[in-house]
Amino acid sequence: MASTNAVADYWTKGNTLKRILQALETAGVALEGISITDLAPIDQFHARGLAGTIDLANRLPIAAGQNLLDIGCGIGGPARYMADRFDCHVSGLDITPGFITAGEELNRLTRMDDKVDLRVGDGVTLPYGSAYFDGAFSQHVTMNVADRAGFFAEAFRVIKPGGFFGLSEHGLGPNGDPVFPLPWADRADICHMIPPGETEHLLDTAGFVGIELLDTGSRYVNGYNEVAAKMKADGPSVLGPHVIGGEDIPLRSSNSIQCIEEGRSSPIEVVCFKPV
Ligand SMILES: C[S@@+](CC[C@H](N)C(=O)[O-])C[C@H]1O[C@@H](n2cnc3c(N)ncnc32)[C@H](O)[C@@H]1O
Repeated sequence: MASTNAVADYWTKGNTLKRILQALETAGVALEGISITDLAPIDQFHARGLAGTIDLANRLPIAAGQNLLDIGCGIGGPARYMADRFDCHVSGLDITPGFITAGEELNRLTRMDDKVDLRVGDGVTLPYGSAYFDGAFSQHVTMNVADRAGFFAEAFRVIKPGGFFGLSEHGLGPNGDPVFPLPWADRADICHMIPPGETEHLLDTAGFVGIELLDTGSRYVNGYNEVAAKMKADGPSVLGPHVIGGEDIPLRSSNSIQCIEEGRSSPIEVVCFKPV
C-alpha cells in the first residue's frame, strides 16, 4: 500500500503558489483587492468546482458563528466560500504542504485569514480535540484514503453531538476498475475508491445517523462536458483546474467521464449527522 507521502507527492506538481500567482497575473487579475470569486476557477479543486461546493453547502445546516472543519481542504477555496457565505469560521487541513502554503497566502490576499485557518495534516489522525467542531465536510478526498474507517472515525470524533458531516467522492462503480490517469490519481496504489454502499456502511459503523446519499454522476458528466465545450469554443483558459492539477487535466477529466458512463465510478454526495 502506498504511504500518505505518496499521496502528497502525487498532488505536489511544482510550486503551487508560484503557478497560481503567475496565472492570475497572466489573466490580468490584480492581487490587490482579489475576491474569492476571482479565485473560484482555481481554488474549487474538485468535479464541478464552485457549483459542487454550492450544492453541498445547500444541503448542510450551517449557521453564522459556527466552527467548521474542511478535511482535505486543498488550497482552501471551499473553506473560504463557506466562511464567507455563512459568516462562520473554517479550519482546513490537508496532507499536501504546498497546498497549505498557497492557501495561507490566498487567505491573506482575500483578507480572510481571521475566518479561515489552514494546516498540514492527515485526515486519519486529526490534530483537534473531540467534539470541537459544529460540522465538517470533505470534498473529493477519500478516493486517496486507504483507511476510510479511520478517516470517518476521526471526523465523527471531532464533531459535536448533533453536528453534521458532508462528503463528496467518486465511489467505485459496479462495472470494473477505473481507467487511469484520473484527476485524483494516476495509478492504482493511491486510488482507494469503494462502492457507495460500503461508504454508507462505514459511516454507519463510525456512528453517523441520518445518512443520505445522492448520486451525482450525471451532474459531473454535464459539468465536465460544459468545461470541455467552453474550452473548444474559447480556447484554453488561463485560469482553471490545470493551474494546480497540471496540463493533462483534460485527459484526466475525460477518463473520469468514461468511468462514470461505463459504470466504473459512481460519484456520490453524502450528508449525515452525529447523534445528539
Ligand atoms: C481533489 S483535491 C480536493 C481539495 C479540496 N477538498 C477542494 O475541494 O478544493 C483532494 C485533496 O485531498 C487531499 N488529501 C488526500 N488524502 C488526504 C488525507 N489523508 N488527509 C488530508 N488530505 C488529504 C490532497 O492533498 C488534495 O488536496
